[in-house]
Amino acid sequence: MAPSSSPLLLTSESGEKYANVKWEELGFALIPTDYMYVAKCRQGESFSQGKIVPYGDISISPCSPILNYGQGLFEGLKAYRTEDDRIRVFRPEQNALRMQTGAERLCMTAPSMEQFVEAVKQTVLANKKWVPPSGKGALYIRPLLIGSGAILGVAPAPEYTFLIYVSPVGDYHKVSSGLNLKVDHKYHRAHYGGTGGIKSCTNYSPVVKSLVEAKSSGFSDVLFLDAATGRNIEEVSTCNIFIVKGNIVSTPPTSGTILPGITRKSISELARDIGYQVQERDVSIDELLEAEEAFCTGTAVVVKAVETVTFHDKKVKYRTGEEALSTKLHSMLTSIQMGLVEDTKGWMGLF
Ligand code: COI
Repeated sequence: MAPSSSPLLLTSESGEKYANVKWEELGFALIPTDYMYVAKCRQGESFSQGKIVPYGDISISPCSPILNYGQGLFEGLKAYRTEDDRIRVFRPEQNALRMQTGAERLCMTAPSMEQFVEAVKQTVLANKKWVPPSGKGALYIRPLLIGSGAILGVAPAPEYTFLIYVSPVGDYHKVSSGLNLKVDHKYHRAHYGGTGGIKSCTNYSPVVKSLVEAKSSGFSDVLFLDAATGRNIEEVSTCNIFIVKGNIVSTPPTSGTILPGITRKSISELARDIGYQVQERDVSIDELLEAEEAFCTGTAVVVKAVETVTFHDKKVKYRTGEEALSTKLHSMLTSIQMGLVEDTKGWMGLF
């Protein structure tokens, strides 16, 4: 991508290279930055040119469909600083496309791909000093598309807001060797014909109860089973899951109840590149319990080994560490993202 010549582009006025952040202590918690991006449109029209404005609270009608009916989508992507101080964003076009798919499902108006990518670029460059030093984390970018115009009945909103805010982040899960997952056999995350396959805001609050319960028992996260049979694994609360057995890497198919993760897709490609057979198919809970290795992928989690899975009273331990495929794939992916190896796949948008 060429450097921005947008008049909306703001740069650090103080001239400091970095914001005052303890980079070594980054986790996944909001650190408010200087600016955010906001664009609005009337239903059925195109988004006007957005603005970079100071980061802060927004004003919204109490009668907006996002507040009343959950008509909203979000995305998550990351910007990285390379050792030679360039800023790169991982596959922003893919997030733009996913937002368009979700918008179609929720009868919302979505920004064009060009507008989405340009908005990401402007927001990142306006907050450049918040992009962590190379190797210390990333700038998490959170685009939101919400039904913001007032309407009392259940119908498409008369106005939409497209907003992007950012926060420097480190690891999503602060665990050393791997995740300890609890398989939920009571609640489900998604069902066929629902919204599990899009990044709807409404997919996330229903998992919180399960997550809180699991965390209070010492687990790192929750794995959900399919709602139709309760026999197949689907997704962890915020990420996709893979299993490894021999030379075969398997992950549940994106047939409507699984989020089509961009990291999921990228990791499948990298695994194929190094000779693994990658299968997208139903994966039963029994297969997971018999696998040699399991790992999770997502923008926030990146690639994270699963150390244990607990299903009812059964607890299974998996390969982690240097021997694990997930360690290799994590290294391959982050080397591309941080500019340590050549990006032969054209995945990185260079700002
Ligand atoms: C992401 O990885 O971007 C996510 O959507 C996770 C988020 C819900 C914390």
